[in-house]
Formats: sequence, structure tokens, C-alpha cells
Amino acid sequence: MIKYPFLDLSKVTRPYASELKEACCRVIDSGRYVGGDEVESFERLLADSCGAGYAVGVANGLDALRLILRGYIELGVMSPGDEVIVPSNTYIATVLAVTDMGLKPVFVEPSLATMNIDDTLIEAAVTPKTRAIMTVHLYGQPAYSTIMADVAQRHGLKLIEDNAQAIGASVDGISTGHLGNAAAFSFYPTKNIGAIGDAGAVTTDDRELASAVRALANYGSSRRYHNIYQGYNSRLDTLQAAMLKVRLAHLDEETEGRRAIASVYGECISNPGVILPRELTGRHVWHQYVVRVSDRERFRAYMNDCGVGTDVNYPLPPHRQPCYMEYSGLSLPIADRLAAEVVSLPVNPACTSLDDAREISEIVNNYDYE
Ligand SMILES: Cc1ncc(COP(=O)(O)O)c(C=O)c1O
Repeated sequence: MIKYPFLDLSKVTRPYASELKEACCRVIDSGRYVGGDEVESFERLLADSCGAGYAVGVANGLDALRLILRGYIELGVMSPGDEVIVPSNTYIATVLAVTDMGLKPVFVEPSLATMNIDDTLIEAAVTPKTRAIMTVHLYGQPAYSTIMADVAQRHGLKLIEDNAQAIGASVDGISTGHLGNAAAFSFYPTKNIGAIGDAGAVTTDDRELASAVRALANYGSSRRYHNIYQGYNSRLDTLQAAMLKVRLAHLDEETEGRRAIASVYGECISNPGVILPRELTGRHVWHQYVVRVSDRERFRAYMNDCGVGTDVNYPLPPHRQPCYMEYSGLSLPIADRLAAEVVSLPVNPACTSLDDAREISEIVNNYDYE
């Protein structure tokens, strides 16, 4: 029996059920189901929450990434065949966005300490064809540094944030989503703010990019029946915008809940066979609490037997995926090692109390590692 589930989305939404239902009825009664005031007010709230000039709601996080790249292509900043630097241990969506736009991903290894792209390795990966660094705030920890910003600036590269996992994170008081030139958000239901379905957004201070993304997401049209681009249908549903406004209002308290659980793990887990994540590069929002163990499957089986649900984010790095056979010959040992060792512990405050976190820590401490 799983006493401590990894994640139960019905528990995540339960505290907001009446607010969500009220918002849902408001949309149904309004007669406006795509775009409109709900979407516009959500976009304003999101942009303000991270300090960005513009936010554009889109259908999902992958589209947010794709639309940023396509927007830059339309604006002449990059062309198919150009290179985009990405971390080698990211979720597949980061890389899919790059290749889908005909761009070439150049993988840079993460640091073992942060599990984010190793900023000291970025410059060596820059070539005359590099146009952007797509940094991924993996697991909720900002992947940003002055070294990275300096490389981007000196080489004239766009700094694009994959902020799917890190809404609410920040570096020196600047929010993720406003650290680079443009950022992609995902509101997939398991994310720190989840919709009741798929949703995403782009933030930027760049007015031209924001307009291009907005048009591209709406069939490429800037005004009705006038198509300046061969675009897509990737708009944010009115209903999802209304759901997201409810969730955004509670982001800070939820983030504090995640941070409190992470602190309990940090203080209470002392098993030498389990390497704990550390908050090293700004305010971490703990989308995932990812430990490393060398005998992962045995550890997971033990945790499961003790009633603790765990997950693996992610078991196979992009260059090992069957869809990317062309990159399978690359030597990316840190990404491979992380994929073999990472285990995520429960960290959602709606599912895990601080007492649960203490008990889970005790269970981890009793693990007899090899
Ligand atoms: C790092 C990262 N990038 C992009 C995405 C894509 O977001 P979505 O699932 O909303 O398309 C996700 C989440 O799934 C993600 O974790």
C-alpha cells in the first residue's frame, strides 16, 4: 500500500475546487471560449508576476518553446540550420522544439552539483552558427549565471529560458521568465501551477517577438483574415486562463510549502548512499526534489515496499531516445550518469505534509545502500 503517494492531482486541486468551479461557470456564462478578457487578464498577471513586459498565452509548453524559435526565425534572428545550445539532461520537449524548427541542438553537459547546464562549458560549444542558448531551469532551480549571460552577450546570442518547471524561482530578485530574452512556461497539470488540461505561455520584453508569437499562435494572423505568417493554432483556452488565474493567486504559498518540504529532507536525510540536491543558484522552487543513488532500482523498490511513491525524471536523456538516433554516438557521460541515478521524492505540499516528509526521511535513512 502506498501511504505517501508521489503525486495525486485530485488532492492538488481540491483546496481550490470551489474557486475553480466558480471561474468555470463564469466562462460558460460569458459566451467567450477562446481569447477574451480572461486570457488578457491572465497574461497581464503572469507578465507582472515575473516582471516581463509581455506574456502571450499559448496551448502548451512545447508550443511556447517552438513559437519563440519560430518567432526569432520570422524576425530574421536565426534560420533553419543554425545551432541552439541546450543542456544534455533536459526533458525531451526542449530538444523537440529546436529540431522541429529545423535548428540543430548542441548538447552541453550539466554540472553534477546543480543538475543544470554547466555554465563553464557553454563558451566552448559556441560556433559561428550558434544563435541561442536555451537554458532549462530543471527541477525548479534557476539555470542562469553572469557567466552564461556574458557568453550570450559577447557572442550576440539570444538567451531563451525553458521555464516549464520553475515559475516563481528567481536569481538576485529577478524572476525566471525575465532573466533572458524570452521564456517558455508550461502549465501541464503536474507543474507548479497546473491547468485543468494543457496550457503554456511565452514571456518577453521584446515587443516584436511578443507580436510575432501572438500572430503565429493564431494561424499567423495579426488581424482577422489577414495572415502574415504560415502559423499554427496554439491559443490559450479561455477556460484554462480562468483556471490559471485561480492557481497563480496561490503560487507563493504553494512554493513556500515545497520549500518547507525540501528543507525537511535537507535537514533530516543523512544516508551517505543518497546524494541530496542543493539550492545553489538562486531561489529554488522544487518542482522536483531529485536525489541521486547509485543502485536506483533497488532503492525505488525499497521505497515502494515502505509505502513511498517515487518517480524518475528522466530515465533516458534526449540523445539516447530512439527518435534521436543521430545523436546516439555523442559522448555525454554526465547526462547518462544522471539518467541512471536520479530519483524524485514526493514534494507537493498538497500530498505531503511536513510530518510525512520527516517520516519519508527516516525511511530513506534506513535504506541499506550497497
Ligand atoms: C523542461 C520542460 N520543457 C518543456 C516542457 C513542455 O511542456 P508541455 O508539457 O506543457 O508541452 C516540459 C513539460 O512537460 C518540461 O518539463
